[in-house]
Amino acid sequence: MESVPIPIHLRNLPPPDECFDHTSFITFLAQWIKPRVYLELGVRYGPIIKNMLPLARRIIGVDLKKDQAFNQLPVEFYEMSTEQFFDQAPGLNLQVDLALIDADHSHESSLRDFDRLFPYVIEDGIICLHDTYPINEYFTRADKCSDSWRTAHFIRQNYGERCEILTLPFQPGLSIVRKSTRQLAWKDDSTFEKSEKIPGDRK
Ligand SMILES: C[S@@+](CC[C@H](N)C(=O)[O-])C[C@H]1O[C@@H](n2cnc3c(N)ncnc32)[C@H](O)[C@@H]1O
Repeated sequence: MESVPIPIHLRNLPPPDECFDHTSFITFLAQWIKPRVYLELGVRYGPIIKNMLPLARRIIGVDLKKDQAFNQLPVEFYEMSTEQFFDQAPGLNLQVDLALIDADHSHESSLRDFDRLFPYVIEDGIICLHDTYPINEYFTRADKCSDSWRTAHFIRQNYGERCEILTLPFQPGLSIVRKSTRQLAWKDDSTFEKSEKIPGDRK
């Protein structure tokens, strides 16, 4: 008799609270995206931001509290709530290639962050959302992942025409959204012809 497979979300069990190294994963993505603009909502001590220094041209961090380490780094830091940041975003010339939503993890707040960020992300740009696959009820507590998993579900249900979303089922979960209205962004879109060439582009 065949045994029942262990569910994927239970194959890399904590403790601690996080078993998936999202920092390395997002850094790996950035090595391929080569972001002109990296934006992180909810930065804390900034391990990912620090990895972005050699990879992204413009790095923007937003957090209620600014860690002193950021005083020495070439990072645009907004010490404020994400709501206050988006109130001033129209004046910031934002064209985001890669973003991480990792501030207030409540569904209401993380969805608001996503809704407000979305217009500033370029076609084929990537938005990551952290804490979207808590492995059990305990981790859905407000002081853990909260219910930001509902935001990933909402995006899947309501943003279907405008993006695609994949959630990695590894505690505490990471969702990856590609903003795209079609599979191949460059097809029939003349704006791609006019785009700035990046170093190493052989065309
Ligand atoms: C989980 S930590 C971020 C961790 C970081 N992204 C990382 O990967 O290491 C969440 C951060 O979001 C900040 N935060 C919580 N609510 C916020 C809000 N409404 N606006 C801005 N920052 C917020 C907290 O101060 C905290 O530093």
